[in-house]
Amino acid sequence: NMSWIDIGPIGVVDEGEVAGVNADGTPLAIFCKEGRFFALHDLCTHGQARLSEGFVEDGCIECPLHQGLFDIETGEPKSAPVTVPVRTYAVRENNGRLEVMLG
Ligand code: FES
Repeated sequence: NMSWIDIGPIGVVDEGEVAGVNADGTPLAIFCKEGRFFALHDLCTHGQARLSEGFVEDGCIECPLHQGLFDIETGEPKSAPVTVPVRTYAVRENNGRLEVMLG
């Protein structure tokens, strides 16, 4: 599926925060960082935890289960115990709405 999927109004996620959304059955963690939007797959690569239930700090999302860190923009692991990147998805703004490309 190579089309853009609407995930709600821009206000679904506040600056510096994370929100969990469902894009056609795919769970996503959506971030707003310095006015730009990013999306990660909403499942930690270390265990069964939703990144959208974690905490945003210094450009990273902290997993709520074992406090591993992922870079919000790249999905790269930034601190133990996570070692595997989490998938990223493209996000765009369209008429006040957010859309993601699941690809
Ligand atoms: Fe996320 Fe362990 S489940 S760090």
